[in-house]
Amino acid sequence: MTYIGTATSRIDGHAKVTGGAKYAAEFNVPGLVHAFIVESTIAKGRILHIDASEALRVEGVIDVLTHEKRPRMADTDDAYKDDVAPEGAPYRPLYDSKIMFSGQPVALVLAEEWEIARFAASLVRVEYEQEAHVTDLYRQREVAFALPEPAKPRGNAAKAFAAADVGHQGEYYVPIEHHNPMEPYASTVTWDGGGKLTVYDKTQGVQNVQRYVCSIFDMKPDDVRVMSPFVGGAFGSGLRPQYQVVLAVLAARALERSVRLVLTRQQMYSLGYRPAMIQRIELGATAGGTLDAITHEAITVTSQYEDFHRHETTWSGLLYKSANAKYAHKLARLDLPTSCDMRGPSATTGVYALESAMDELAVALKLDPLELRLRCYSDRDQNNGDLPFSSKNLRECYRQGAEMFGWDKRNPEPRSMRDGSELVGWGMATGVWEALQVPITVRIVLTANGHAEVACATSDIGTGTYTIMAQVAADALGLPLDNISIKLGDSTLPQSPVEGGSWIAASVSNGIVTTSNAIREELLRLAKKVPGSPLANATPDKVAFADGKLVSRQDASRAISIADVMRHGAVDRIEQEKSTNFANDGKHAHNTHSALFAEVRVDEQLGVIRVTRIVSAVAAGRILNTKTAHSQVMGGVVWGIGVALHEETLIDHKFGRIMNANIAEYHIPVNADVHDIKVIFVEEQDNIVNPLGIKGLGEIGIVGVAAAIANAVYHATGKRIRDLPITLDKLQR
Ligand code: MOS
Repeated sequence: MTYIGTATSRIDGHAKVTGGAKYAAEFNVPGLVHAFIVESTIAKGRILHIDASEALRVEGVIDVLTHEKRPRMADTDDAYKDDVAPEGAPYRPLYDSKIMFSGQPVALVLAEEWEIARFAASLVRVEYEQEAHVTDLYRQREVAFALPEPAKPRGNAAKAFAAADVGHQGEYYVPIEHHNPMEPYASTVTWDGGGKLTVYDKTQGVQNVQRYVCSIFDMKPDDVRVMSPFVGGAFGSGLRPQYQVVLAVLAARALERSVRLVLTRQQMYSLGYRPAMIQRIELGATAGGTLDAITHEAITVTSQYEDFHRHETTWSGLLYKSANAKYAHKLARLDLPTSCDMRGPSATTGVYALESAMDELAVALKLDPLELRLRCYSDRDQNNGDLPFSSKNLRECYRQGAEMFGWDKRNPEPRSMRDGSELVGWGMATGVWEALQVPITVRIVLTANGHAEVACATSDIGTGTYTIMAQVAADALGLPLDNISIKLGDSTLPQSPVEGGSWIAASVSNGIVTTSNAIREELLRLAKKVPGSPLANATPDKVAFADGKLVSRQDASRAISIADVMRHGAVDRIEQEKSTNFANDGKHAHNTHSALFAEVRVDEQLGVIRVTRIVSAVAAGRILNTKTAHSQVMGGVVWGIGVALHEETLIDHKFGRIMNANIAEYHIPVNADVHDIKVIFVEEQDNIVNPLGIKGLGEIGIVGVAAAIANAVYHATGKRIRDLPITLDKLQR
């Protein structure tokens, strides 16, 4: 293989840095109308009256849409359910007078210029009838309702915990964290005449948005084309269609004109978020440092109208061997929008709690934290029928990570590794994620000039999907990378689910190979008809593509060029479209793993924490592109620093309103917070997960990072902070 596994630069890199790559709010058409959202200032209640008269008097304002003045929309919950909607009644933008969260759109101002729309929006007067709201998880703790058991319990965890030689129990808190990818949510809807629309949307799934829009507005699939050729980061926030697409389509239909709606940074805080959560963990161990009891309970946040949840608790009994394990999960309803996926959903948070608890257990056992992980190592997924993993090279992650970090030089005593006025702390943690795969369809058109166009409706949310698709196609078709063009992010292309869960790289790559195989078979069929064909007796499995030719695998001198085959066959192109499904043999668990080692330096007087070194060793099957993969994991580590030390949505519970809805006061790691990050990809061959042995790695990079840092902070200071983010005031308490 020439390209798979190499550090190929992004094929769209040039377009991205030169502005050639267009994002949802950058598509221009003549006569574009600009929309601006008026947001609710209360968290719960209903709209009594909206007075838009002053806004309408502003020159350049075209109209103001409200729930009382808008085109028809569907009136059933089902119509608003997208492919990945949770249970419940989805939010309907501008539908009725009901207010369910602060920041909810209540009116949409339409104007000839964006500045005019924005100014006029400030003139819209809204009268509300307020109801009592609740936005504080701790106030809802007692009334949170239980979800069905997240995974089957095994043994009797409570009994085993009571009988354990050494036990640890702890409660861990993670606050709400808000998405804010570089590209804000935006939709440009072009009115193509005859009621047809093209929607340039910020999304992780164009076909999901297309079905959603059709269903809400009762439109025919052919009349709505959704495009998203480039996405400036999404990380889970774009798995579900966001309300701006509904509002932009609503406006386009109202005016029969093209419309653009862009959310401001502040408005991005009225979308989904990583749910706040309280987790309780009980670990019981033998004196020898093996686990005998795991109990993991979580209470996570959702809205009043939908039940979003993932599975924070079950990572525990998956990651470590224990005869007894029990999980419980409750949901707390708050007067906020529905929570949503955010990078490594459930693992980023669930594994944070588990790996903090494991560190505390290691302290109680007077055992090196890495040694504890090794003693509890699990070669099987005990949660799901006690299955072996299709591959699991976590041991090697521990070994290589520890070696690169220099873990063996760690003095186990907290506060023992001082450097001048700074306390130095070393912590470690494990990461785990799923190697998921989804059914996908890929179309390839191979032309006589040795060029191939590969098409699939998947998104590239910034991870590098364009590039890995081109690499796989170039190798599968034996063509130079430059001869491959990729089409994606268009609802008219062959079927793809949303890009998320780290499942697209494996799915689309194997889809490309499947379709390439069909192209090869078709070309061989034609090649056999060429007079005196060197491949007259070859079977499809005995030929391969190489250097623009079909070549016998047994005898490389038997070859015929793509151009010659097509010329003789009197065709100038071969087109194939194939769907790939991933048969699960039901006999293996599929996961990716990582080992994290972190160094922090804490100023003893001020409590300022710096993460000076991180080593992340990842086992994620075959790595398609070492450059983009490295960037994915490095990005995950940086975000993990944010989870540990910075990110926190602060709500004024009196008003039910977010106080730090801006990037100045909502802290994220900046350049000065990011120091030495080293990423290792541990060799991991997997012949079971799929033919190419790819597992995907968008999300594994973040999992475990926050715990490694929290554990390092404990080692540095002797203080265990169990609520994130770990800020200096908490260290000083
Ligand atoms: Mo991911 S949280 O599925 O984009």
